[in-house]
Amino acid sequence: MSDPQIFEKRPNVMKLDAGDYWWCGCGRAETQPFCDGSHKGTGLGPQKFTLEEAKTVALCNCKHSKNPPFCDGSHSSL
Ligand code: FES
Repeated sequence: MSDPQIFEKRPNVMKLDAGDYWWCGCGRAETQPFCDGSHKGTGLGPQKFTLEEAKTVALCNCKHSKNPPFCDGSHSSL
């Protein structure tokens, strides 16, 4: 299994509608912060999350959060 790539050392703060989302956990997707299938062969994968209502979220872009898909501040120590 490869280590996740750091895409950016800051979260992607965005307002999302209610629904299901697939957060990129490998850092390779060109559709950050969401999965585009680029993890294939890395042993890593996306994480699904569901929002019950529209909400502003801070999604981890460094891919090292201990609470994925959300930013937990881990990017500041990378
Ligand atoms: S962007 Fe990954 S923990 Fe903040």
